Amino acid sequence: MKSFTSIDIEALKIDPFEAIGQDWMLITAKKGDQVNTMTASWGGMGVLWNRRAAFIFVKEARFTKTFIDAADHFSLCFFRKQYQDKLEYLGSVSGRDENKIKNVGFTLCEDQGVPFFLEADTVLVCKKLSQHPLLPEGFIDSSILPTWYMDGCGYHSLYVGEIEKVLLESM
Ligand SMILES: Cc1cc2nc3c(=O)[nH]c(=O)nc-3n(C[C@H](O)[C@H](O)[C@H](O)COP(=O)(O)O)c2cc1C
Repeated sequence: MKSFTSIDIEALKIDPFEAIGQDWMLITAKKGDQVNTMTASWGGMGVLWNRRAAFIFVKEARFTKTFIDAADHFSLCFFRKQYQDKLEYLGSVSGRDENKIKNVGFTLCEDQGVPFFLEADTVLVCKKLSQHPLLPEGFIDSSILPTWYMDGCGYHSLYVGEIEKVLLESM
């Protein structure tokens, strides 16, 4: 059975433009004994409040948002390209409508109660530090609102998560 090794955050070699923007990630959280996940291609990693942090942007309407809001932690999972069609699926249907984790065939694991997927090659375990709803009055570029917020799914919330642990697959 595949296993994961915890590495120092300093040893993490990841290009967020490629890993998040092009290859995408899954944001996963647990509410009670239920888990939900969604694909994300927006976000970042860096330093805030002197902590190593990940920044994710989740729209109001996402079922996953209710899980992130209920949890202390969430995970960010990164995958090899071969799984991208599965990430596309997980980003096009809602956990409200179907058991998409079962349908996609991914295997759920946990690290100290934080859910992630066995098929991932890199997992960031994040502790929620803060949440910030993006407000329309904050948009300076006037093209943002009509381009991204006319779909009836509400605005994004920015979540700042402290990267507590980096897990790398070790075959
Ligand atoms: C490639 C891709 C990237 C996405 N990135 C984001 C994102 O960064 N933030 C977001 O709120 N939704 C994003 N989505 C949309 C959600 O993944 C999608 O609405 C998903 O079905 C939500 O599932 P849920 O309702 O089970 O949470 C993305 C979808 C795809 C396919």
